[in-house]
Amino acid sequence: MTGFLFVTDLDRTLVGDDNALNTLNQQLTDHRQKYGTKIVYATGRSLLLFRQLTSQHSLLPPDALITSVGSEIYFNPNEDIFDSEWAEIIAHGWNRSQVISIAGNFSYLTHQPRSEQGLFKISYHLSDSVASVVLPQLKLALHESGLDVKLIYSGGKDLDILPQKADKGLAVEFLRQKWRIDEINTVVCGDSGNDISLFMVENLRGIIVGNAMSELREWHEANPSDIRYISTGKYAAGIIEGLQYFRFILFS
Ligand code: GLC
Ligand code: MG
Repeated sequence: MTGFLFVTDLDRTLVGDDNALNTLNQQLTDHRQKYGTKIVYATGRSLLLFRQLTSQHSLLPPDALITSVGSEIYFNPNEDIFDSEWAEIIAHGWNRSQVISIAGNFSYLTHQPRSEQGLFKISYHLSDSVASVVLPQLKLALHESGLDVKLIYSGGKDLDILPQKADKGLAVEFLRQKWRIDEINTVVCGDSGNDISLFMVENLRGIIVGNAMSELREWHEANPSDIRYISTGKYAAGIIEGLQYFRFILFS
C-alpha cells in the first residue's frame, strides 16, 4: 500500500450516509497515519457554509480545502485566509463588476445569498426549465464583451460564474503539483455538475457515486474513461466501493 491523494466533493458525495461516512473516516485516518495519504475536500460551498456542515457531520480535518467551486483554497479552514498564490493565478483577466452588470440583463437569473458570492465567484439560481435557452445567450453576451469566464450549472438550479482559470479540477492540479503527487495516485469523487471539472483532469482515477445526478451521468456517457468507476453504492458507501475497486484501500 502507498499513500494517495484523496479528493472528494462534500454534499451528496462524502456526506449523505453518516454510517458509511464513519467507516470511511476510520480507514482514511488509518491510511493517513501509516502512509501519509492526503485528504482534500472540493466543494461548491463558501468557507462559511463549509463550517456549518462540519457542525452537522463528522468530517476529518482536510490537508486542504477547496471552496467556492474551486475559486478559493484554504490550507487551514479554521483561519479566514485563502491561499494568495492560487488567487493570483485565477485573478488574471477577471472583471467581477462587469460580469455582474451583464448578467443583470438576464431576468431569469436571481442572486444566491450574499455568503455564496465570492471574490472570484458570482452565483445565481436559474430554473432548469429555461437553462438550456438562457445559458447560451448569457455565454454569448459575456464573450462579446470580451469577458473570459466559465459558467458552471449544477443541480438543475445553481449557476456559478468563475474566472476561466478556476474550477475544482484546476484547483486539484495546483495542489497535486505543489505536493508532487503522481496522477495515478490521485482519486477524485463527485455526484453533480460542478464536479465534472474534477473528472476532466486527465489520468486521475474517478469515482462517480451511485446517487449521481443525470447532468454528471450524461457527461460521463459522452466522455467515457476506463479509469472512472461508477458505484452502485450511494454517498460514502459509493466512495468505499470505488476505493476498493482501484485498490487504494482494502476494506475488510
Ligand atoms: C453550493 C454553493 C452554491 C453553488 C452550488 C453549485 O451549493 O453554496 O453557491 O452555486 O454549490 O456549485
Ligand atoms: Mg455534490
